[in-house]
Amino acid sequence: MDFGKIIERLMDKPLDEKNKNLLVNRDKEFEMINLIIKYQPYGIYGICGETGIGKTTVINNIYTDLYSVKISLSQRENQDTILYDILYNLSLKTEKDIELSREIKEWVLEEISYIKGFSMGMSFFGNASVSRQNQKIPRFNYFKAKEYLNKLTDELIKKYKKVVLIIDELDKESKKEVLLVLDNLKLELQKEGFIVLVSLPYSIYREYKFDRMHRNESGNLENVIKDIIYLREFTNSEIKEIIIKRIKDFIYLFDENVIDLIADYSDGNPRDAFWITQKIVFEALSKKLEKIDYSFARTTIKTIVNEYLKEISLTDKQKSMIDEDLFPGTREDIVKKAIENKKLPRSTAYSIFDKLLKTGIIIEQNGIYRLSGKSKYLYID
Ligand SMILES: Nc1ncnc2c1ncn2[C@@H]1O[C@H](COP(=O)(O)OP(=O)(O)O)[C@@H](O)[C@H]1O
Ligand SMILES: [Mg+2]
Repeated sequence: MDFGKIIERLMDKPLDEKNKNLLVNRDKEFEMINLIIKYQPYGIYGICGETGIGKTTVINNIYTDLYSVKISLSQRENQDTILYDILYNLSLKTEKDIELSREIKEWVLEEISYIKGFSMGMSFFGNASVSRQNQKIPRFNYFKAKEYLNKLTDELIKKYKKVVLIIDELDKESKKEVLLVLDNLKLELQKEGFIVLVSLPYSIYREYKFDRMHRNESGNLENVIKDIIYLREFTNSEIKEIIIKRIKDFIYLFDENVIDLIADYSDGNPRDAFWITQKIVFEALSKKLEKIDYSFARTTIKTIVNEYLKEISLTDKQKSMIDEDLFPGTREDIVKKAIENKKLPRSTAYSIFDKLLKTGIIIEQNGIYRLSGKSKYLYID
């Protein structure tokens, strides 16, 4: 059955060297990254964007002649484990080039097994045990780890003059945690000859922009992050290209405008596009269809959206603002129109706007708000 093979093609996985042929655009972003690597003397740079927009894919496809190390964090419980994770991965990847790395790697492993062993003992004996309670709980040796990181980066720079460190998966962390980590590692990571690229959550980008414009009171972000490469949403035609590249051998199974529907639904996010396409294909499989046509796809999307969003349960007043005529625009534009067209009191219009934004029915792109591709399916027949 051909539909079965499509599911495999639609696997949501970051692209890398092996499937580079599926890569669409991001030329500007790669160019920007290359310029930074080439000309900036040092600094921490963020690769920002919502989840599923392609951060890992971009990171996987950065190539440079300089000495570079790519690491992907997996131990992200707290600041200590993040530091240990960076240190461990960096020493592991540089082991064959830097003598100190082996010592560091073994030290981290020993520390971890000691702490893990102890915490398992703790839970085994339980907290009630009096003798255990008085015992000192072993802690991560944060300062020693920092010292090692400092030494290792020094050695790398001494040997290679300029070094690129790329860290992925920091975007899974909360904004607060990321900032703490980067701020606390300023001394170790910000030095002449050391370029650090990190994937960051979208929320940091917004705050960063505010800081740069000096609108934020705290204004500490720009001290830590020198610049941000923002991964924008793909255009509808890019999303179409992304999907078609994946399923091109089976494209005859879809009516042409089905891919338009999917692109519109995705709001420029490939992860959403793959997800909904898989859903539609599964539905077609269970209905034993020969081909996916427009009305089938539309009905399927509608059912799925309503299922997922029915929890939000909006009032009629709130629903009245889900109206294409009010969008797109700035928050003020839209609220003003809602007051005029829908006869809503100002404060009500603002609070509905914020609720719709929070639930993802309204989405923002560079200060301009519009209805999400999903929301169109909410109240249509
Ligand atoms: N430029 C691109 N061209 C084609 N597909 C892409 C591109 N960027 C991302 N994708 C696809 O989108 C999905 C999400 O990408 P990923 O890199 O994992 O995003 P993130 O790291 O931001 O969560 C993956 O399935 C990936 O293959
Ligand atoms: Mg990722």
